[in-house]
Amino acid sequence: MAESFEVSMAGEEKYYIPDPSYKEQAWTKDYGRAYKEFLADKEGFWERQAHHLEWFKKWDKVLEWNYPYAKWFVNAKLNITYNCLDRHVANHRRNKVALIWRGEEGEERIFTYKKLYHEVCRFANGLKKLGVVKGDRVCIYMPLVPEQVIAMLACARIGAVHSVVFGGFGVNALNMRINDAEAKIVITADVTIRRGKTIPLKTIVEEAIINAPSVEKVVVLSREVDQPVELHKEMEIDYYELMEGVPAECKPEVMDAEDPLFILYTSGSTGTPKGIVHTCGGYMVGTYYTTLNVFDLKDTDVYWCTADTGWITGHSYVVYGPFCVGATVVLAEAVPDYPDAGSYWKIIQDLGITIFYTAPTAIRMFMRVGDEWPDKYDLSSLRILGSVGEPLNPEAFEWYYRAIGKDRCPVVDTWWQTETGMQMITTMVGEPMRPGFAGKAIPGVVADVVDKQGTPVAPGNGGFLVIREPWPAMLRTVYKNDERYRTYWHTIPDCYTAGDLAVKGKDGNIMIIGRADDIIIMAGHNIGTAEVESALVSHQAVAEAAVIGKPDPLKGNLIKAFVILRVGFQPSEKLKSDLIYHVRMTIGPIAMPSEIEFMDKLPKTRSGKIMRRVLKAKEMGIDPGDVSTLEE
Ligand code: PRX
Repeated sequence: MAESFEVSMAGEEKYYIPDPSYKEQAWTKDYGRAYKEFLADKEGFWERQAHHLEWFKKWDKVLEWNYPYAKWFVNAKLNITYNCLDRHVANHRRNKVALIWRGEEGEERIFTYKKLYHEVCRFANGLKKLGVVKGDRVCIYMPLVPEQVIAMLACARIGAVHSVVFGGFGVNALNMRINDAEAKIVITADVTIRRGKTIPLKTIVEEAIINAPSVEKVVVLSREVDQPVELHKEMEIDYYELMEGVPAECKPEVMDAEDPLFILYTSGSTGTPKGIVHTCGGYMVGTYYTTLNVFDLKDTDVYWCTADTGWITGHSYVVYGPFCVGATVVLAEAVPDYPDAGSYWKIIQDLGITIFYTAPTAIRMFMRVGDEWPDKYDLSSLRILGSVGEPLNPEAFEWYYRAIGKDRCPVVDTWWQTETGMQMITTMVGEPMRPGFAGKAIPGVVADVVDKQGTPVAPGNGGFLVIREPWPAMLRTVYKNDERYRTYWHTIPDCYTAGDLAVKGKDGNIMIIGRADDIIIMAGHNIGTAEVESALVSHQAVAEAAVIGKPDPLKGNLIKAFVILRVGFQPSEKLKSDLIYHVRMTIGPIAMPSEIEFMDKLPKTRSGKIMRRVLKAKEMGIDPGDVSTLEE
């Protein structure tokens, strides 16, 4: 990591001030006061949030902090699905719509809280029939359909630890995740649907489990869009058949607050992704509190987060947070540009969406195609807009605010990570928004921008984004690799290092610049350079590869790969396409390089480490900085 750096804070200090009514009605009415109250009694703050939820047994202690290990709500007992479902079924939300699913062609499926409750219980009983017990790992590799959400909640119901793998990952990526988690069951579907085409999922699972000895059964949801799916009876079982004859009630497993709830893999700076482990109690409190306060979610809201459930955003802000709150959640198997660039705006109009949460990549795509698309639709139901996953640049903020929010809706640009489990930095609804800046640490979080030694940088300077205090939804470990967990807390003394570079303005607002490590955020997806490099090197023609993120106005970054070929292989356009295809098949379409350059030599340190920084500087035509460690 480099030392802290100076940043030119070009541009005026421009703020957008929301209508005062937002503040008057907000759950958190006064950010400054709420933050002070939190600082005065941090554990008391989180304890008050926890009291809003139902526990089978309350905690003996709010926090046990044994650096860098935290236990939140010590000895408390709960089941998160009891808070997502039973609690609402027992009150006025029984017949409230919990979930509206929309397909690409506008098909709709609607679940009330009561219906969702029974579906989850039935599938949980189905899993029990397969012998799944508390602590077992279950891999969910599904399209964005209600059954994906039901499968997650069913696992949580019986205490099984789910590991959801995004449906866009390929064979090797899936195989690695199944093996690392030693998943006993894989839940999948025959196909996923994208831009009018069906893409097979089950065939990927078939290949991915060939060398996955832990897998006992594969549950297959047949969507019956093409022909009926053929099952290999010795291994595979139909989703609906599994539920035949099972009761529609399933007692929630009593979970300790610190029992694992799920594992979710995220890219790291080595070739193997990290299995981030989240636990039941703290994660529930963190996602509940943020869903309620950051989105200022009310009982009447219709909330749509466009993220796939396979990412942390889907876990925390499609499933657990919104259901804990009792929201009406929209789930759409939709892409922003199919059948045309109005697809999202049509959903907002049709369903009367009030809170809309999406990624800067999508916003920039919409911005490029112009106002005519949103202008065709009635977006007046919108109340609050959200952004997540990568920096929301000022131009994109302004367009989103004007063309979608009609100069009326507050924009919450939320910074957080798979590891943090919950939103950490944003501008709370009603507070002045500064384009380009995510905002400030929310009440409950202590964030800072520091140099390598952990000293805060002067306002206006850049440095490393850190979190100084434990928070309830924090990761507890990296699955089977605690060493990698400790690295987060031991890189910079006395704090959690997020891996992002940031700038703190004089007004206390934080601007996120980008990653400080070998992770590329492309279209909001987190991709490890090492993962792409090892996929390339696994091709017979490749001797060595180095991958960089190349800034792109639409996707934030594109992947460019520099490749040294093995003796006997010649550079050609055909080979470039082969290599791109190879990465697509091994990791998945999300990690495909858009450019490949053949090289004879790669810049390396004397100890043999590839200096991607030098490649990147050359690519961008800028000064590579200190190259004293570069070998001759
Ligand atoms: O670099 C930051 C970027 O996404 C990273 C976390 O990626 P992931 O674990 O996949 O989670 C994404 C969804 C929470 C961060 O380290 N990032 C996330 N949100 C923002 C962001 N960068 C700038 N602004 C944001 N609002």
